[in-house]
Amino acid sequence: ASAAASDGPLLGFQSVPMRAQDSVSVPPGYRAQVLYRWGDPTGLAAGQPAFQPDAGNNAADQALQAGMHHDGMAFFALAGSARGLLALNHEYVDDGLLHTDGMKTWNADKVAKSMAAHGVSVIEVERDGAGWRTVLPSRYARRITATTPMRLSGPAAGHPLLRTTADPSGTQVLGTFNNCANGQTPWGTYLTCEENFVNYFEGPDTPDAHQKRWGLKKGNGALYRWHEHEPRFDARREPHEFNRHGWVVEIDPLDPQSVPVKRTALGRAAHEGATVVPLADGRVAVYMGEDARFEYLYRFVSRDRVRPGGLAANRELLDHGTLSVARFDADGRGVWLPLVHGQGPLTTAQGFDSQGEVLIKTRQASDLLGATRMDRPEWTAVDPATGTVFCTLTNNSSRGVKDAPGVDAANPRAQNTMGQIISWQEDGGLGGTTFRWRHLVLAGDPTLARADARGNVQGDAFGSPDGLWVDPRGVIWIQTDASTSTLGRGDYANLPNNQMLACHPATGEVRRFLVGPHGCEVTGIAATPDLRTMFVNIQHPGEPSSERSDPDQPLKVSRWPDGPLAGRPRSATVVITKDDGGVIGT
Ligand code: FEO
Ligand code: CA
Ligand code: CA
Ligand code: CA
Repeated sequence: ASAAASDGPLLGFQSVPMRAQDSVSVPPGYRAQVLYRWGDPTGLAAGQPAFQPDAGNNAADQALQAGMHHDGMAFFALAGSARGLLALNHEYVDDGLLHTDGMKTWNADKVAKSMAAHGVSVIEVERDGAGWRTVLPSRYARRITATTPMRLSGPAAGHPLLRTTADPSGTQVLGTFNNCANGQTPWGTYLTCEENFVNYFEGPDTPDAHQKRWGLKKGNGALYRWHEHEPRFDARREPHEFNRHGWVVEIDPLDPQSVPVKRTALGRAAHEGATVVPLADGRVAVYMGEDARFEYLYRFVSRDRVRPGGLAANRELLDHGTLSVARFDADGRGVWLPLVHGQGPLTTAQGFDSQGEVLIKTRQASDLLGATRMDRPEWTAVDPATGTVFCTLTNNSSRGVKDAPGVDAANPRAQNTMGQIISWQEDGGLGGTTFRWRHLVLAGDPTLARADARGNVQGDAFGSPDGLWVDPRGVIWIQTDASTSTLGRGDYANLPNNQMLACHPATGEVRRFLVGPHGCEVTGIAATPDLRTMFVNIQHPGEPSSERSDPDQPLKVSRWPDGPLAGRPRSATVVITKDDGGVIGT
């Protein structure tokens, strides 16, 4: 059975008080159980290496274990709401925690372990009398990492800008990394999105215009130091490798042998997520934020209709369609501007030799079309019942500062520390070219003196909305990612830890449902079809914890979830259930 409005009140739970604590708090009558921590076995092999609390596992162990820094996630039912697959992202690593002696020494083995701790997990999970557990071993279990062979498809595949020494065809690429949010297709595949890929590439002293527009510069490689042992991450030696990342990757969770596909038709960006929604005529739309200050919001509409028959019938669906970028006008109207070669300024004369080049240089193309530069568009979510689309604009402290763009109607606050959630309805239904937009909420803390930090929240204070999901009952779930350098101070004085909240779609009330442990971000959300089990990820508990952290920051030590005697805090998937077995949120 699927969840329905008749299952109970939309928001029936008691608000969780905000407090600084090293645990996961949920409302009375709810339970949060830790399911899948960094280093836990995936089920890939029988007798997997155990997690060593001093981080002593080597790269080969790590390739069989849960990666670090869990993020976006989806549930694929295998047996109703009792057994299924969880596909989840491991966005990045904290090398200070990943290796026994952190980054004090550096070598090829550490690079290999770092690459193996990135990517995606596919695990089989099932419910028994004691709760949920990972099925060990499982024929579905898989780790996709920064070295997994993948294929590039769509209009940009094979473009000269995607060709490298190792791959003169421009169609074969190794790995995915910085996988932030995600998507799930109606034909049963998982989409994982490559966000801050530029941070993995060492750039030249004098970047060219393309490299500059994407932030590729000297010194970027210092963060992960992969280029010191893997030359493809040194853009001075291999300038095109960086063009082969920043895509949306499609993965078949049912087949661990399948080759993941980077779908270039969806464009290249520091993609946050890719929310897929069916259109009335059988095609799909995919909504994608690009989480960077003053970047854009994108929509792809497929050329073809989804056919019955699962993945086998829809293998090319995401290779053909139209990518557009959003312009939000001051009168509350907006328009999707198509990124199509030969239309408007997107011509050879302007530097785009083909649709492939438009897709590789999505940012430059969007600049020419006059799209709206947003306050860091993170997750998108759609309520299919009403056709309303939502996007979290997490924050933008540079808005209206010095030479940066000033406020506009859609991004109305200067020094925007708290963020907002924008929503729109497309004319004629989902898929329409024009739309009417509004703000669902300007996030903030109603008790603050600074007007721009107060926002207009009805209910519990929050800032930096990031994860977003509309459940089948229409409840809007919001997860926060306030930076650990701002939590508990300044505009976040009353918000020491990150959290998850639920917003009532009709009244706009926002009510706190979960508070995370110290130094974590709450991100990633999935549920069983009956909505009686919810999966949530707790990312980077204990940040800042690595040696590259700012020593002036107040260090709130976390040993979540293993407790005070544990060697390391560990990102983990948490399962939330209601003691009476009811629908989550009621
Ligand atoms: Fe990886 Fe935009 O958060
Ligand atoms: Ca995010
Ligand atoms: Ca974020
Ligand atoms: Ca994060």
